[in-house]
Amino acid sequence: MKTLIRDVTVITANERNQVLEHADVVIDGTEITYVGPTTTWDENFQQTINGVGKLLAPGFVNAHGHAAMTLLRSYADDVPLMYWLEKKIYPVEARLKREDVYWGTMLAIAEMIKGGTTTFVDMYFFMDQVAEAAEEAGIRAVLSRGLVGVGPEADSGLEESKEFCRYWHGRAEGRITTMLGPHAPYTCPPDYLQKVMTLQDELGVPVHIHLSETLDEVEQIKAEYGVTPTKLLQKTGLLKRPVLAAHCVHLTEEDMDILAEEDVRVAHNPGSNLKLGSGIAPVPDLLKRGVTVGLGTDGAASNNNLDMLEEMRLAALLHKGSRMDPTLISASEAIAMATRESAKAAFLDNVGVVASGMKADLILIKLKQPHLVPQHDLMAHLVYAAQPSDIQMVMVDGKILCQDGKLTTLDEENIIEQAQQRAINLVQADENE
Ligand code: NI
Repeated sequence: MKTLIRDVTVITANERNQVLEHADVVIDGTEITYVGPTTTWDENFQQTINGVGKLLAPGFVNAHGHAAMTLLRSYADDVPLMYWLEKKIYPVEARLKREDVYWGTMLAIAEMIKGGTTTFVDMYFFMDQVAEAAEEAGIRAVLSRGLVGVGPEADSGLEESKEFCRYWHGRAEGRITTMLGPHAPYTCPPDYLQKVMTLQDELGVPVHIHLSETLDEVEQIKAEYGVTPTKLLQKTGLLKRPVLAAHCVHLTEEDMDILAEEDVRVAHNPGSNLKLGSGIAPVPDLLKRGVTVGLGTDGAASNNNLDMLEEMRLAALLHKGSRMDPTLISASEAIAMATRESAKAAFLDNVGVVASGMKADLILIKLKQPHLVPQHDLMAHLVYAAQPSDIQMVMVDGKILCQDGKLTTLDEENIIEQAQQRAINLVQADENE
């Protein structure tokens, strides 16, 4: 199918941060084939979208999360991280069934699509169900089975990962790619990471890991190995592989140099880091070194939504305030982080920018609204003023997944009902124990 989006303003999110006024965008099948000045077209398009008064941007790439944790949204808030994990999250997660993960993921996908997210990067378990949900929804996904290197599931997790990557990598018309997901240096000791690397050599997929999220973690690794978590990963040889590291909150100058040197991709999760009281990642210092920094929401249990507009705003405001410097993380940098740089962080080279040859993963935003008038600076609008309800259309691979707030591929009402019921059952079982 061929679609023309006519006379629209485009935030390209390309390296030059170009904004194009009065542009036409042509989509042929799953790809963008033209982005340029409005012109007269001789050919017939199956679909023409009037772009006047609208803003077209790349769909957001959520660079780190645990989708099914939507079932635990608002279950345990305003408590310390270790209590949150050990007393609240882990006991409920231990009872999660395949179907729970499926419906929790569906709830996350419904929320993400409505909020303009077109790709999500996920680490969890029962990943076949996550992949099935993504395939049905039509969203793009980069999926890894979370691995813990101690305990009974250490080796079976590797086996499962292998099967998962082999089966799903490149499936759903190429919308699903896979990674290996060793959870973190404090749950995956060096000898286990060796096994992960052996598997990585075999499969060739990137590695997704949590790194230096909390001060406790850094202290624990230092006490055990005498080096920081980043240095430890470097010593094991893991950083020679393609690596996406989530959080990176507590880094030394040397750690940051290592991340730059080894081209480690970072997922910044400002909302989750703030809510769990973990701290503030040194993003301006990473960017200065040329590190690729994408943006993620993390799971809904520590955010508590999966709204990339809000995450972008947080990323743009947080570093200004904490360092008392309003020039840090400009609107264009925040947009790049949520789109182009997140795509790079997820090792995807065909999304995150509106350009000919890229996949048609796009969002269309209504500009004629009180909070978006006047339009002096549309990139600033997208970061500082826009709301998810402004998003009129969301497209992945050239297919419309959401139009005027209505999901086209999913039964929203049923998803809400299923997720609601399952979440209640999980929590009730917790209270009975
Ligand atoms: Ni996480």
